[in-house]
Amino acid sequence: MAHPNDLRDARFLLDVDTRPPNPVPPTILTNAAAMRRWRAANSGSCGFVPTMGYLHEGHMELVRRSIEENLHTVVSIFVNPMQFGPNEDFSRYPRDEVRDLAQLSAAGVDAVYLPNANDMYPEGYQTYVDVERVTLPLEGAARPGHFRGVTTVVLKLFNAVGADRAYFGRKDAQQLRVVQRMVRDLDVGTEVVACPIVREADGLAMSSRNVYLTPEQRSASTILKRSLDLAGDRWAAGERDANTLRALVRDNIATEPLAEIDYISLADDVSLEELSGLVTRPALLSLVVKFGKTRLLDNVELA
Ligand code: PAJ
Repeated sequence: MAHPNDLRDARFLLDVDTRPPNPVPPTILTNAAAMRRWRAANSGSCGFVPTMGYLHEGHMELVRRSIEENLHTVVSIFVNPMQFGPNEDFSRYPRDEVRDLAQLSAAGVDAVYLPNANDMYPEGYQTYVDVERVTLPLEGAARPGHFRGVTTVVLKLFNAVGADRAYFGRKDAQQLRVVQRMVRDLDVGTEVVACPIVREADGLAMSSRNVYLTPEQRSASTILKRSLDLAGDRWAAGERDANTLRALVRDNIATEPLAEIDYISLADDVSLEELSGLVTRPALLSLVVKFGKTRLLDNVELA
């Protein structure tokens, strides 16, 4: 009988099957101790992509970048109850673990960390990470306690994974700045890598929550990117008045009857303090607009 290696060689020579070999499926780790053991057994650079699952191309761009830049890549999927308010969408947040794992496997991810809520927050849990000023405006004001939940879970995930780099999207601009602040302030050994916003063909920033939109809301949602572009163009043409730039976005979004503005902010790019008068340093123009109950976030960096 032929040795399996001979068969493989023969297939290769005859060019019977030119498809790339199936990637090795990722190792699945379901608690912090197992995650840490995996990392200890897999030396070399490690990239990490924390997610809440229901993966789309925005997530997958982070994954591809991590795979490119590191020997190993770990992705976590955990819908973190601590970062949802009591009246938010925790229980109806979209989930599809089977599809997520298939995508991660096809991309060539080495390990997927899938902790469960009881292991993350066991009975008696009482430790939290609070980043101060940069969490106060914008999403922090709209969603009290949200960033405390984010920083607490992100530090726990960082501790379990032990990665060299962690990949975050610029779509969640305040989250990125809050995590960067935490990493600096607490001497965390994982470097934060900021990645560009990935958009649908018509400009809507990809988000797991976009599935909540009705078809009418979905087509109306393109007003966000168009309004940000308008401000970006005016900025590029030299406009520096904070009120003018904010008003431009506000007035443009107001032309869309299905859009309900939650906030429009023009803030210092690092501290996120709201700016007035002439803008003389890099700024973040960010907004949240509601379509029905769905809050859509988007932003553009003006630098
Ligand atoms: P989640 O919303 O699943 O997002 C995971 C990561 O994907 C975040 O860094 C987010 O900014 C990035 N991302 C989402 N949509 C993107 C897009 N259209 N373009 C680029 N990047 C995008 O953010 C969270 O989960 C959680 O708060 C988490 C950090 C995992 C902590 O629970």
